[in-house]
Amino acid sequence: MRDILLGCSGSIGIVKLPALALELHERGYTITIVLTEAAEFFFDKDHAGSVRVYDAEGFGKLMQLVEEDTIKVVRAKDEWNDLLQKPLSPSSQPTTPPLTTPPPATQFSCPVLHITLRSTHRLLLLCPLSANTLAKVVTGLATDTLSCLVRAWQVAGPTAKPALLAPAMNTEMWTHPLTERQLTTIKSFWSNPNAPCKVIAPVSKMLACGTRGMGALAHIESIVDNVEEVLPTPWASTKPSTKPSTKPSTKPSIKPSTKPSKTPRQSMAAALLKVARERFDSAKDGVTGSASGAVLAAPISPSSDAIIERVLQLKELTKLELGSGDVAFDLGAGDGRWLTSIATR
Ligand SMILES: Cc1cc2nc3c(=O)[nH]c(=O)nc-3n(C[C@H](O)[C@H](O)[C@H](O)COP(=O)(O)O)c2cc1C
Repeated sequence: MRDILLGCSGSIGIVKLPALALELHERGYTITIVLTEAAEFFFDKDHAGSVRVYDAEGFGKLMQLVEEDTIKVVRAKDEWNDLLQKPLSPSSQPTTPPLTTPPPATQFSCPVLHITLRSTHRLLLLCPLSANTLAKVVTGLATDTLSCLVRAWQVAGPTAKPALLAPAMNTEMWTHPLTERQLTTIKSFWSNPNAPCKVIAPVSKMLACGTRGMGALAHIESIVDNVEEVLPTPWASTKPSTKPSTKPSTKPSIKPSTKPSKTPRQSMAAALLKVARERFDSAKDGVTGSASGAVLAAPISPSSDAIIERVLQLKELTKLELGSGDVAFDLGAGDGRWLTSIATR
């Protein structure tokens, strides 16, 4: 299970995407970015309003994480294009022996990206949310990957999952009576108080269109705070934040930076974090529905007595004459058998 489905629509506020995605990543969240076609225009192309012109350094770091497959990016047409790449099901492959009877209709299955995405993420974060996508969400239009998965998002009952909406639009659009009506309607769909839908209101500033007023995307810190509130993780709160620069780059560049985004130590920490998260997920899934409600954060794999015996016999260790004033530290988190073995000796 991944954490955040970050749906980006075609608002100029998308220039803040690298800063947001990097900050969420730094705090330990796993992210999948889903772009509408208009968002792709800001993300992929070089022009005065493009992401890579606004924040070349952040864009480079983000793309590096995308290349490593740490952050995934899904595009508007991936639904259909992905399907063309998938191998045909065995029943329709010409090389397999012909079936004497066609398979029953219930056996037919094919991957559906928007359903997979909706099922494998904990939080829906629509940021920036354009006026157009907002209208689609409220009316239920499902014309691309993002709007399809929003349409299929669990909003009610015990399996409901939370959502955060961060609209960003021109002042006239934001203050239009439709906006409030639409946001209120959307929020009303989320009927499980444990999985609410919250709006992160835009802020007032000089907008890209040259007028000053409400409608600019909320500050990244405020969006991240909202994420942490709705989706606290054991990792998010303990990890100090290394805030990426939110300052726009002055030097437009079309080339993503080739500078490594992480030190080896950070890479190691990220790799360990990933393993811990996977174990946490599988352990948690394993105890779902258990009467105790306990969640095992990491499986315990105790060292066998034979291994302990062997290690304690090693020259280096046997040279140590453990006495009553000595302190032995067990840096593991198991059942303490190393400590008891040493103490017994
Ligand atoms: C330069 C530029 C900036 C735009 N900024 C915004 C914006 O901040 N908010 C918004 O709602 N629409 C904005 N639009 C209009 C949307 O891109 C347009 O409505 C588009 O159809 C949105 O599609 P989507 O919701 O599928 O992403 C902008 C368009 C352009 C060309």
